[in-house]
This record gives sequence, structure tokens and C-alpha cells, in this order.
Amino acid sequence: MAHRWINTLSDTDVTPEVAFLNRRQMIAGAAAGVGLSLMAQRARAETLEPNNWDDITTYNNYYEFGTDKGDPARNARTLTTKPWSVTIDGLVDRPGDYAFDEIMAKMTIEERLYRFRCVEAWSMVVPWNGFELADLLELAGVQSGAKYVAFETVLRPDEMPGVRYPVLDWPYVEGLRLDEALHPLTIMATGIYGRDIPNQNGAPLRLVVPWKYGFKSIKSVVRITLTDKEPPTSWNKANAGEYGFYSNVNPEVSHPRWSQATERQIGGGLFSSRVPTLMFNGYGDEVAGLYAGMDLKKNF
Ligand code: MTE
Repeated sequence: MAHRWINTLSDTDVTPEVAFLNRRQMIAGAAAGVGLSLMAQRARAETLEPNNWDDITTYNNYYEFGTDKGDPARNARTLTTKPWSVTIDGLVDRPGDYAFDEIMAKMTIEERLYRFRCVEAWSMVVPWNGFELADLLELAGVQSGAKYVAFETVLRPDEMPGVRYPVLDWPYVEGLRLDEALHPLTIMATGIYGRDIPNQNGAPLRLVVPWKYGFKSIKSVVRITLTDKEPPTSWNKANAGEYGFYSNVNPEVSHPRWSQATERQIGGGLFSSRVPTLMFNGYGDEVAGLYAGMDLKKNF
């Protein structure tokens, strides 16, 4: 790959690990500071049920484990992540099951740390370990007819108590346009803060697309399909009026039920003021060109 991402953020920009680990409490504290409004609304929207204070502070963003009120980290422990393989199929020259260890053996040649901003009402800078999705796709050989990439999370009812409930249409699926997928900012993360990624964050590998909202970051990926049609995405299927295919961070486009113009920084202290959210989460110089000429209010 000729085009590599060079970190623009340094260690001092990274959200302290303790703040990251306690982010639910910090988010809850921050939400209390603004009268519960934003986070309460958001949590309600994402769990599709009314929330009380407890729901917000124990709220899990991995719904396959999280429809009940239990500790999300404890529930996700049941996920078997070894062995693991990713099926890459569709419009590729070398379709097949790619063992996670084999992928890692090829990718660790270029073992990389990515310090990325991420935003979803709250924001932080997370140090991910991983590799560019483009490198994985290169293993499989993308064919010229491919225009989109579809992703699928593992579906294991035995290990995932949440999938008994039709909160979403399982398995969780996501999609990117091929040019988005090949962009050097688009990574498959396998580690966080220098350790293996915890199960509740999407072990053993999950997508990270730092100029999009967090829900595009599909966890525990088992299938990647190259296709010529725009693939379905879980949140769009659940509520097309609120979640579009692109989901680019865009302060000018409000979610139907809340503004997306500002964010609160995790680790910035409970009474830190909100800061303006940047177009494409601040990665505009790198990615704005992907959307030249597109109406991003329509393609939200
Ligand atoms: N992937 C799967 N398979 N299932 C999910 O419920 N939730 C998404 C995304 N990926 C989700 C998922 C949402 S809503 C968010 S905000 C992010 O994961 C949260 O990732 P984090 O818990 O690592 O912050």
C-alpha cells in the first residue's frame, strides 16, 4: 500500500486510560450536568426502550450482550474469540475463510498504532492497535466490479444472551462504500490502549472509521463481502429516518431528535464546556474529497 496514515495526534492527546475505562460514569455525570437531556435521549433511542438512570450508566453498546440490565462486560465474557476466522467473499479473487492468526501474522509486519478521535455526543481520543482494512482486502484481491463492502458480526445465540430479543435484526451488519473502506483512516482494530481489545469492545477485531459516528464500528467481524450494491446496515434497518448509510460526523445535520453540533470531551472534567463538533470529526482534509458533489444532508 502506497498511502499510509501517519498519526497527527500524539500520546498527550490520548484520553487517559482511566477516563476511558470509567467513561460510562463520566458520561452519566456529564449528562447530569446538562439535565440528563442528551445522553438520556440518546440511550433511549439506542436501546429502543425507556431508560432510567441505571440503564444509562450500565448501558452497553454491544446489543448482542446488552438487552438485559446485567453488567455488559460480564455478559461479553462468554464470547469465544479463539479460534476466529473471517470469511471474505463476494467480488474477490481469493474468497475464503481467513484465520485470525494468519491475518495477524501478515499484518503484524506493519504493526501499527492509530490515535483516533471518536465522537458520539461525547468524544475522546483512543489509541487503537490494528491494521488498515485495505491491507486485509488486498489479501483477498478486490475485483473491479466491487463498489461496496458489507460487514457482519458473529451471531452465536449460545454465547450472546441479547440476540433472543429482536432489538435489532441479527446479525449486526454494516457497510461502507469501497473508497471509504480503502481509505487509510479505515482500520480493523485488534487492540486498545496497548492490550487486546476486550470482548465488549468487539474482540477479536472490529471496524473503526474515525470520521463516522461510533455505531458504524461493527464489532467481532466474521464476514466481509465485496458487492456492487449498497449493503444494508443494522441501524438503518431499525430506523431509516434516524440513521443513514453514511453516518458521517456532521455538525450541520441534526439527528431528528437532537443536535449534533457540539460534543463533551471525556476526561475533560465534569464541568467542561461543550465544544463544537467538527465536520468529519476533524478529518475533513483527508476524507472530504470522498463526498465531493454529494448532498450530505440527504446522504446522512
Ligand atoms: N457492533 C455490534 N456487533 N453490535 C452492537 O450493538 N454497537 C455499535 C458499535 N458496534 C454495536 C456494534 C454502537 S451503537 C456503538 S456507539 C459502538 O459499537 C460502540 O463501541 P464501543 O463500545 O467500543 O465504544
